[in-house]
Amino acid sequence: MSDMDPYRLDGRVALVTGAANGIGLAICRALARQGATLVLLDRDESVHETAKTFQGSLAVVADVTDETALERVVEQIESQLGSIDILINNAGVVALSPAETLSEQDWDKTLDINLKGVFLTSQIVGRTMLSREAGVIINMASKAGVMALDQHLAYGVSKAGVIALTRSLALEWSPRGVRVNAVSPTIVMTELGRTAWDNDAGEAARSRMPMRRFAEPEEIANAVAWLASPGASMVSGENLLVDGGYTIS
Ligand SMILES: NC(=O)c1ccc[n+]([C@@H]2O[C@H](COP(=O)([O-])OP(=O)(O)OC[C@H]3O[C@@H](n4cnc5c(N)ncnc54)[C@H](O)[C@@H]3O)[C@@H](O)[C@H]2O)c1
Repeated sequence: MSDMDPYRLDGRVALVTGAANGIGLAICRALARQGATLVLLDRDESVHETAKTFQGSLAVVADVTDETALERVVEQIESQLGSIDILINNAGVVALSPAETLSEQDWDKTLDINLKGVFLTSQIVGRTMLSREAGVIINMASKAGVMALDQHLAYGVSKAGVIALTRSLALEWSPRGVRVNAVSPTIVMTELGRTAWDNDAGEAARSRMPMRRFAEPEEIANAVAWLASPGASMVSGENLLVDGGYTIS
């Protein structure tokens, strides 16, 4: 083992999806602080403005469900910054509905972005990592992937799928130098978090939490930065719950 700081990411190129806002933006800050060069991907044009705060970064507007666009993005990153060392699959959406009235459209949209988007991005970037026998992938799951939450049917299924996908990729790719893990946050009051929890159900959830509070975006980002670092070199196939103990009981 070298005596270099095992949590530094100097010289690493990190692609973060859903980077324009919320947890994705906090992840960018955490990775940049550890020395990584960032690629911020989002379907929202504002990602260009966000990227200006990260020196030497690249901003790309793309949808994680668009395979052709993703292939182009990876080519662009490789020609401008070099190979991608770290992939953070963070982009996600939520659509709340009682199960009996959940529309097929909301089901498809949620599964497309939250699960197929993670599959496509992991596959396209993963192939380049496998060719170099090095890389780290971190998928944003949710406590909704391990426990049932009212009105979260499509979301919970998509996140349970992300956890299963993480395990399968870790099994196949860890022997070839690519670590794959998931992070499952509890409630964070981002735009997505407010959509689901800025109501009585949110207050009830908060009072059930052992820590009696929601998480801050930085608390999720710090866990991601650790998993992305050589300090987590023996961790693969894990789903790290960052939930202040919410799922203990
Ligand atoms: N906020 C929470 O309470 C919470 C809890 C558990 C898990 N998560 C997960 O964390 C991740 C980030 O959530 P957040 O709370 O920061 O949400 P957010 O709404 O604040 O940010 C999500 C970002 O993803 C982008 N995005 C959405 N669909 C996209 C697509 N198809 N292609 C590219 N970009 C797309 C949005 O433009 C936005 O910038 C999501 O995967 C979410 O499911 C959030």
